[in-house]
Amino acid sequence: MQTRTLGDRQVSAVGLGGMPMSIEGRPDEARSVATIHAALDAGVTFIDTADSYHLHADEVGHNEELIARALRSYGGDTSDVLVATKGGHLRPGDGSWTKNGHPDHLKEAAKASAERLGVDAIGLYQFHRPDPEVPYADSVGALRELLDEGVIERAGISNADPDQIREAQEILGGRLVSVQNQFSPRFRSSLPELELCAELGIAFLPWSPLGGIALARSGELGPEFAPFLEVAEAHGVSPFQVALAWELALAPVVVPIPGASRPESIQDSARAAELELTPEEVERLSAAG
Ligand SMILES: NC(=O)c1ccc[n+]([C@@H]2O[C@H](COP(=O)([O-])OP(=O)(O)OC[C@H]3O[C@@H](n4cnc5c(N)ncnc54)[C@H](OP(=O)(O)O)[C@@H]3O)[C@@H](O)[C@H]2O)c1
Repeated sequence: MQTRTLGDRQVSAVGLGGMPMSIEGRPDEARSVATIHAALDAGVTFIDTADSYHLHADEVGHNEELIARALRSYGGDTSDVLVATKGGHLRPGDGSWTKNGHPDHLKEAAKASAERLGVDAIGLYQFHRPDPEVPYADSVGALRELLDEGVIERAGISNADPDQIREAQEILGGRLVSVQNQFSPRFRSSLPELELCAELGIAFLPWSPLGGIALARSGELGPEFAPFLEVAEAHGVSPFQVALAWELALAPVVVPIPGASRPESIQDSARAAELELTPEEVERLSAAG
């Protein structure tokens, strides 16, 4: 698997998103573990999770614990795997997602995540989503403290706009390594953030890179994306692989994190790292939709 740079680390160009294995519609533990092991077998060394990837109120960190268990039960070497988690979102258990960007909460949450992941320091900790009730500088200031205290090894942000990316980079003293925003053939509103990350040399992690769980599970990218199907047919691969390869082609800082709850999904997605699109194909896909 080709690798890309995330701060001082190299990670697989295609990561694994853990969310579908812990929220609504999640599979049983055996299928989730098989999915994570299939990702590792395919060369995936970057796994994205969050403390809020759970269903019921009393199971905060369901996905972090699942990933930690799957890494422990994997037969091979996992020392090069970087697990990235997030804090600042909450799930009260009624299906909603709420926010808490208070520095005290983030500092407590990071320590709890480290414990669930079974690590002394979290490889990458991301502030999940700006909280309108808390100044952004205060939330990112908590990341700086966590870095300085050694609770986390690297810091990232998510759902950030260009001003917030610049602000976070300044507050962290140049130590911002990643930005995780929604980006797929269907949702392209974060193209300015992707381009800013490319300019600043910060990893850009497209979330829901296939358009989201519901759309991807329906087996398509959306009716208006026929060029993705045509390019897929020409290469004899799935349109999902073409979507990921297109994202990878947009900038060398891009590391998509497709979700999966079946081994077949991540096996197929991982192959996107080896799919080479021509400049003409990339241009055509960029114009589609
Ligand atoms: N920062 C944020 O605010 C935020 C928000 C949303 C998501 N995320 C992160 O981004 C990750 C990815 O987003 P997502 O899971 O919402 O959406 P997604 O990656 O766009 O779609 C995930 C779904 O696509 C299916 N799939 C994946 N690869 C496939 C393939 N090659 N062929 C056919 N189907 C395939 C999977 O189906 P099966 O389940 O059947 O395998 C999976 O449920 C999440 O897991 C999470 O880690 C972050």
